[in-house]
Amino acid sequence: MATMESLIGLVNRIQRACTALGDHGGEGMSLWEALPSVAVVGGQSSGKSSVLESVVGRDFLPRGSGIVTRRPLVLQLHKTEGGTEYAEFLHAPKRKMTDFAAVRKEIADETDRITGKSKQISNIPIHLSIYSPNVVNLTLIDLPGLTKVAVEGQPESIVEDIEMMVRSYVEKPNCIILAISPANQDIATSDAIKLAREVDPSGERTFGVLTKLDLMDQGTNALDVLEGRAYKLLHPWVGIVNRSQADINKNVNMIHARQKEREYFESSPEYGHLGHKMGSEYLAKLLSKHLETVIRQRIPSIIALINKTIDEINAELDRIGRPIAVDGGAQLYTILEMCRAFDRVFKEHLD
Ligand code: GDP
Ligand code: NA
Ligand code: MG
Repeated sequence: MATMESLIGLVNRIQRACTALGDHGGEGMSLWEALPSVAVVGGQSSGKSSVLESVVGRDFLPRGSGIVTRRPLVLQLHKTEGGTEYAEFLHAPKRKMTDFAAVRKEIADETDRITGKSKQISNIPIHLSIYSPNVVNLTLIDLPGLTKVAVEGQPESIVEDIEMMVRSYVEKPNCIILAISPANQDIATSDAIKLAREVDPSGERTFGVLTKLDLMDQGTNALDVLEGRAYKLLHPWVGIVNRSQADINKNVNMIHARQKEREYFESSPEYGHLGHKMGSEYLAKLLSKHLETVIRQRIPSIIALINKTIDEINAELDRIGRPIAVDGGAQLYTILEMCRAFDRVFKEHLD
């Protein structure tokens, strides 16, 4: 009996193979679009990159004040059975990186390579895969933050440009939205909630995440939001305490940060009763569970798409003649093999 985890793992690998072949989910209904992914939405410095890092459980994303994330980062997590943890960029496929500080630097360098060392943005995504026994199989997308005004060095159009870029990801029906709002700002002003509500009015694919609980004014708390009274969402709100800038500067590591977060909720007089449904680890589990449900619902349409892909690949292989040794052909064979495996595993799963 196959586990749901192995199914999601296969979905992940097929997406990656399709991406390598140049299918970035651009036009039409591709396999890429049939499969769910998770994107973060929110204002600048609301904590989007920090939340993604905690979900992954590794330090590797550039974070900080101002516009740090300036290109979409499509991050695929692949759960492995064991072995060393490593990262691999699509633009440098033969380089297995085990130093996550170097991964962070490469994201920053690769961002600058397209945008220059400016505050400009680009909608050309960076694709990164992480292979690790300690992750859940997920595709996560880090996006630039929504802004209200252009700052020095940015074109006036940047406000709309960013919104359009973010929209292009979150309006896809396969996109699960992590709507990030900082607790030290009024929820009524949240750009994340505003956009999420627009593209997902039923709220089925929106998860509200409240960051910076530790930065709220003395004497105030976020219970109205977390308990769904201020703004009700279909899925429950999750409160988060990420690392502060001081923590980042002191190189407080992920394990320590998670422990501090857990202690924060356990010892909090306000949130104690919600403790087990708060924090980054809980959010990661919640997402993974939701992903399972979504994939389960989509099994029939995914199988149909897989079979269509198999047919198309077979036609393509017939056209170029087989067997062939060139790279593209080998890639097609790989995808074909994975599609067949997928079909097999699905059937086992249904038995
Ligand atoms: P992004 O611009 O939305 O991706 O936000 P970042 O993840 O880069 O975070 C922006 C800044 O806010 C960084 O200095 C983080 O350390 C800080 N930050 C994010 N979340 C929290 C939080 O929960 N608590 C505290 N104290 N600081 C946070
Ligand atoms: Na930022
Ligand atoms: Mg960011």
